[in-house]
Amino acid sequence: MADDWHIDLSAGRPAAYRELHRSILALIDGETSRMANLANVAAALFSSFGWHWVGFYLVDSEAEELVLGPFQGPVACTRLRKGKGVCAAAWSRQELVNVPDVEAFPGHVACSQFTRSELVIPIVVEGEVMGVLDIDSIEPADFDDADEAGLAAVVRAIESHWSYWK
Ligand code: SME
Repeated sequence: MADDWHIDLSAGRPAAYRELHRSILALIDGETSRMANLANVAAALFSSFGWHWVGFYLVDSEAEELVLGPFQGPVACTRLRKGKGVCAAAWSRQELVNVPDVEAFPGHVACSQFTRSELVIPIVVEGEVMGVLDIDSIEPADFDDADEAGLAAVVRAIESHWSYWK
C-alpha cells in the first residue's frame, strides 16, 4: 500500500538503493502515465531519504528551458533557462552533476535558501535529454558514490520506460 512505503537505511545506502530500485520498478510496472510515474518516483525518493527537495524538470525545447515537473518539497522555480544553474549544466553536458557546495557553483539557481548540496542526473533517451532528476539537500556534500550509482540506476529505469509512457 502507498502508506507502507519504507526503505531500510540501517544497512547503509548501497543496500538501501538495491531495495529502492526493486520497489521503484514495482511501483511503475504496468502504469503508462509518465506524469504519474515521475510523481511517484519523486515521492518514493523523497520519503526514503528525507532530502529537502526531490523532483523533475522537463525539457521545453521550443523555449529552450527546463520546466518544473512532478516534485516533492518546497515550492520551486518554475522555469530554468539554458546555460544557468546546476540543472542546465546537467542538461547541456548530458551527464550527472554532483555539487557538494551550491554556493561554490557559478550560476547556481537558489530556489531555496536552505539547500547546501545538489545532485542532478539527466534523463537521456536516444541521445536526447528529456529532463533531469534534481535532488537538493540541506547537508553540505550529502551525495556520495553510492547515491550517484543508486540514483543513476533509477534514472536508467525511467529512460528504459520513457518511450512506452504517454
Ligand atoms: N538549484 C537548481 C534549480 C532547481 S531547484 O534546486 C529545485 C539549479 O541550479 O539549476
